[in-house]
This record gives sequence, structure tokens and C-alpha cells, in this order.
Amino acid sequence: MPKLAFAIDDPHMLSILEDLQGLDIILKIGPIIFLKEGFSLIKALKQDGFSIFLDLKFHDIPNTVSKSVEVCADIGIDYLTVHLLGGKEMLTPLKDIKQNTQILGVSILTSHDESYMEFLGSRYNLEDMVMHLASLAYECSLDGIVCSGFEAFKIKNKFKLKTVIPGVRLNKGQKDDQKRVVSIDEIKNVADIIVIGRDIYKRQKPKETVFDILSKLGGIYGTS
Ligand code: C5P
Repeated sequence: MPKLAFAIDDPHMLSILEDLQGLDIILKIGPIIFLKEGFSLIKALKQDGFSIFLDLKFHDIPNTVSKSVEVCADIGIDYLTVHLLGGKEMLTPLKDIKQNTQILGVSILTSHDESYMEFLGSRYNLEDMVMHLASLAYECSLDGIVCSGFEAFKIKNKFKLKTVIPGVRLNKGQKDDQKRVVSIDEIKNVADIIVIGRDIYKRQKPKETVFDILSKLGGIYGTS
């Protein structure tokens, strides 16, 4: 059964987290919350028993990324992201640093579509590029890959990698800035982690939406 990573990209959502304690969910903290609250919030949430997914999508020279991953691992971050486009030299050393931190490689963002390949001047189409990056993630012993629901089945068949899928919508009509969007039913058999942000925090009753999603995923909530 996939886990739910709740992308808290809205500071107002911090007030509902108390009600989510004890649920088997991951809290995904990106730059919006991290820049405001920093590691002190992360430490507090970890003390409350949450798993933390720090989504800062590192992409820099190898030394800077390795040192950043080291800081995250020391603090006990459960999952973090690096851009696979950072390449082999950036990714290879990470497996020796990570301690208990799972490293997820971001492939091509779900807000991009085929036209991004043209922009990059790539010889690959989007799907082939994602498979190329998945092969790199596997080769560099990363734990998982962030990909759209469209490529997840192919990746799962070919590589031993966790699939982490954003761009998931309860109602696919509501895409926001995402381009490659899927429903929970379409990917619940292939995802290890599904990432949902706005479809939770923009609803009238976000807490109840979390419960609905967990039951859709087949989970008995209240356990971990
Ligand atoms: O609000 P929504 O459900 O579209 O949020 C998706 C979350 O997943 C955001 O926090 C975004 O930064 C993140 N993400 C993504 N696409 C990726 C990787 C991460 O949308 N490829």
C-alpha cells in the first residue's frame, strides 16, 4: 500500500498537523515552509512522530550537494530530494553519506511536458529521458525516484527503485500548474509514495480529506 506524503506548502496547514499525529503519513516540507520555519520545525515534527520528507531538490556541484545531504542525514531527515539532472558525479557519493535518510532522485518535474525536452535541446523524448534518469538513479544506488504516474509502471518493471509520484489529483480536472496529472486509482498499485498538496490544503476540510485519501489507498488510519 502506498504511503501518503502530504506536501505542506501552505503555512496555515501547520495548525492541523496536531490532528494528524499518529497517522501513517509523511510530511513533505518544501522551500515555502522550510525557509520560514527551518530545522526547528522539522525537529519538533519528528518529536511528534512524523516522518519528514525534505523536498529542497538539491542540484549543485558535487561537494555542495554532498555536504547538504550530510547535514540532512545528521538531523534525521527521513527522505530528501536531489535532481537527477545533477548527473553521476553529483549522485554517486550520496550513498555513502545517507545513514537512515532515503535519497529520492527527481526526474522531470510533473509541471513539465514534452515541450520541455525541446527547450533542453534533448535527443530524448520525455519518457526516454525519465527512463535514462531512472537508470542513473539505480546505478548510483539511490533509494527512489520522483516521477509522474505516466512513467511509474515502466520504471517499476525495470529498476528496483521506490516510486514517488506527485501530480496526483482527486479530481483530474483541477491541474493547477501540473501538466502530467493522474488519479489515485490510476497509480495506487505502482506508487510507493503519493504526494498531494493543494488537493488537501485547498479544501474546506483538509483533515477529513487526508482520512479519505488514506482509506482510498486502503489504509486503516490511526496506525503506523
Ligand atoms: O499541490 P500539488 O499536489 O500539485 O503539490 C505537489 C508537490 O510535489 C509540490 O510540493 C511540489 O513542489 C512537489 N513536486 C512536484 N513535482 C515533482 C517533484 C515534486 O510537484 N516532480
